[in-house]
Amino acid sequence: MNNFLKKLKNTETDETIILEVAMEAEEDLLLPQATDYLDMDKQYKQIMFFYESGIRQLTAKLDILNKEFQFCNDRNPIESVKSRIKSPESILRKMEKRGLPLTFSCMMNNIRDIAGVRVVCPFITDVYQVARLLIVQPDVELVQIKDYIRKPKENGYRSLHLIVMVEVHFSDRKRKVPMEVQLRTIAMNFWASTEHQLRYKKE
Ligand code: GTP
Ligand code: MG
Repeated sequence: MNNFLKKLKNTETDETIILEVAMEAEEDLLLPQATDYLDMDKQYKQIMFFYESGIRQLTAKLDILNKEFQFCNDRNPIESVKSRIKSPESILRKMEKRGLPLTFSCMMNNIRDIAGVRVVCPFITDVYQVARLLIVQPDVELVQIKDYIRKPKENGYRSLHLIVMVEVHFSDRKRKVPMEVQLRTIAMNFWASTEHQLRYKKE
């Protein structure tokens, strides 16, 4: 978190605060005052609350679909649902790798997996059915779909990835929260988790 904030400085404009990258050479001179850090910290927490709200909305939808299916078919099409908010370090790494300016607005416009939900299903047919039931809902907008089940990655990775915008009602307005949903079977999840561990072990 500190890393993220340290790399940003506050620039006041007419009505909004734009956060820009501090020039490396001048970093010491440009470091914001302690109060600016507090403002940015608050702003960052508010942004993360926005994403957490999206996760709440989406997981509630999945829960309802799962229970409804259970009533009609006597079994669950969803084995487990896990969610996470991307860590500030990981967001920063991704933005630096892509050469993006380190601003909050750039982060929100470009990093689409800040909120992530992983859905594990018993069977492949469940994966597609859950995905379909989700994206036909009027307050869920499909932005992108990557089908690594039909077309696995070279290393064997399989999963259905959706980028969706989920509508969330806040006190004064509704907003669309972008999020990444990964759907896969228990077997695919077992493979992906082991491969992920192996990659870290290798590093
Ligand atoms: P990222 O920069 O990682 O988000 O890649 P991308 O924008 O090309 O997205 P993609 O949909 O390909 O992958 C996003 C996420 O899927 C990753 O962050 C992982 O959680 C998961 N993933 C993708 N490829 C692999 C893989 O080869 N192995 C494992 N274990 N997970 C993967
Ligand atoms: Mg990712």
